[in-house]
Amino acid sequence: MIVSVKEFPNVRLVNHPLIRQKLTLCRSKQTTNQTFRLLLNEITALMVYELASDYPTRRVEIETPLQKTTGDELATDVILVPILRAGLGMTHEVMQLIPRARVGHLGLYRDETTLLPIKYYSKLPPNLADSEVIVIDPMLATGGSLSAAVTLLKKAGARRIKLLCLVAAPEGIRRMLNDHPEIPVFTAAIDEKLNPRGFILPGLGDAGDRLFGTA
Ligand code: PRP
Repeated sequence: MIVSVKEFPNVRLVNHPLIRQKLTLCRSKQTTNQTFRLLLNEITALMVYELASDYPTRRVEIETPLQKTTGDELATDVILVPILRAGLGMTHEVMQLIPRARVGHLGLYRDETTLLPIKYYSKLPPNLADSEVIVIDPMLATGGSLSAAVTLLKKAGARRIKLLCLVAAPEGIRRMLNDHPEIPVFTAAIDEKLNPRGFILPGLGDAGDRLFGTA
């Protein structure tokens, strides 16, 4: 179920008992890297189900073993843009559900002192302008990375963009609301705040580290 949040009109809070339970396990420091990856996949599937609910479809003719009939197929191209590294942890699952999706990669890391995003890689597929674009990053902290990613994608022609996050801080949501108010932010949780080092509280730590065991 999608819940609106009065204070943040750009947020689409995906609220479901299964997601809340899995996210709770993701947050626990006792959860292993392997289990964290599995849980993130499961949550991603549940969230994409909601995110894609307004995607257009067209009628197609098919033949069952018994007779001809009509069915539906997606009538739009979909481009996924994971923000390296942590966005990779959700991307495979989205591709399982939308197999024809193409993937553009954006490498951004946050400078630990300034907290500003530094771009180190960009490889985007063509036809951004005519595609539904899903920007994927489990963590929305200051919002610097996702705001820069959306600015870059708009410059490259993207017109229909949605963000897929796992946990969002109020500071980052406000930043997105200010910089890109029309872009919906799908998240499973709105956390309390950032700590002085720009980490989300209570959060779940560094998603990239937990996915890839680099902590
Ligand atoms: C983390 C996270 C986001 C970003 C969020 O990545 O995955 O991309 O920080 O912070 P922001 O909203 O303040 O920009 P990080 O820079 O740690 O890189 P990593 O994914 O390679 O670990």
